[in-house]
Amino acid sequence: MSQFHMSQFHSLAVAQVKHETRDAIAVTFDVPPQLKETFAYRQGQHLTLRATIGGEEVRRSYSICAAVQDARLRVAIKRVPGGVFSGWAMDALKPGAVLDVMPPEGRFNLPLDPDSRRHYLAFAAGSGITPILSIVKTTLMAEPHSRFTVLYGNRASSSVIFRDELAELKDQYMERLNLVYVMSREQQDIELFNGRITEGKCRQLFQRWLRVEDVDYAFVCGPEDMMHGVSNALQEAGMPKERIRIELFAAAAAQAPRQPRRQDAAADSHQTEVTVIMDGNHASFTMDRDKESLLDAGLRAGIDMRYSCKGGVCSTCRCKVLEGSVDMDVNYALEDYEVARGFVLSCQSFPATDRVVVDFDVAE
Ligand SMILES: Cc1cc2nc3c(=O)[nH]c(=O)nc-3n(C[C@H](O)[C@H](O)[C@H](O)COP(=O)(O)OP(=O)(O)OC[C@H]3O[C@@H](n4cnc5c(N)ncnc54)[C@H](O)[C@@H]3O)c2cc1C
Ligand code: FES
Repeated sequence: MSQFHMSQFHSLAVAQVKHETRDAIAVTFDVPPQLKETFAYRQGQHLTLRATIGGEEVRRSYSICAAVQDARLRVAIKRVPGGVFSGWAMDALKPGAVLDVMPPEGRFNLPLDPDSRRHYLAFAAGSGITPILSIVKTTLMAEPHSRFTVLYGNRASSSVIFRDELAELKDQYMERLNLVYVMSREQQDIELFNGRITEGKCRQLFQRWLRVEDVDYAFVCGPEDMMHGVSNALQEAGMPKERIRIELFAAAAAQAPRQPRRQDAAADSHQTEVTVIMDGNHASFTMDRDKESLLDAGLRAGIDMRYSCKGGVCSTCRCKVLEGSVDMDVNYALEDYEVARGFVLSCQSFPATDRVVVDFDVAE
């Protein structure tokens, strides 16, 4: 087996840490000139950060929260109660700290066109505002005739991340940005904007305040239940699923302890020869079918595979099956059209044929 490195981490120094709220920090990285191209990003993309915490290697994804035109590599991290990485980051990340960072990934965006005259709608809850801020700011700058309606759910004003920045954006794009806060624990004057962003709340909004027929595309970023609720209500109001772009930060099922894939896995001695292609290099290894994912088998074979969540959420481990076939367990990250084209999440994929070839170089 030929060895090669696929995960492509680079050491970046933290340039600035800004406390956005009591529980959230915005972290800006210094990108040296030789890495500018590597870290060029599209709106809505995320970075995988890696650190050793309590002797264990921990990887987590964080969305870039800057406009493409800002060329500023910045993420926001919100503390999750008991969370390993987010808790560590609050204490450890200071200017000058060095972190391993993977280049930007993700497809939570749409191509931009200065001639477009679109009405976009975005729903964000809590830290879900990070990619939405990037998308909204980038789009308003790049498409001078398009407009955005943003619904941003929070408990109260004190937990609103990027409050000042959003207010500035609102001032700058008064005519084209409609920003509405939905608060669950702080009473606002308009009753419609009190509570949580649920399917029921969306139905009310679509009946009384916003015509979904006037919206071209919607972006949704937040917890799983909100994502389903918003998506259902939008589709019920007539928006086709392909026009609803979703980014999930964590899936309930992805947090559950993983079960052995099949009860009879130990008895099943089928072997698969796997070839992995990355940066034009090939590496091959043999694995037992059904016992572990392609990703885990590759890691065990000593390949520096690319991954972050291992839960089917982040898409860092996405690749295309060129030969053979695999069964994919959960998929919260790939669009239907990507699956139809043969893309899979290697952390969730189990070989179904004697030979499997997967390519990490193919983007579309
Ligand atoms: C594509 C992508 C982009 C992301 N962007 C951001 C971002 O911009 N800002 C940000 O703060 N986070 C973001 N996340 C979430 C982030 O990657 C981590 O999952 C989160 O910071 C928790 O990690 P932890 O190590 O602190 O918690 P863990 O130790 O992994 O988890 C601790 C507990 O919290 C629960 N949990 C895990 N994640 C969440 C969550 N997001 N919300 C609520 N409960 C959770 C777990 O079930 C567990 O019980 C993103 C995730 C993905 C997949
Ligand atoms: S590592 Fe996150 S989807 Fe596979």
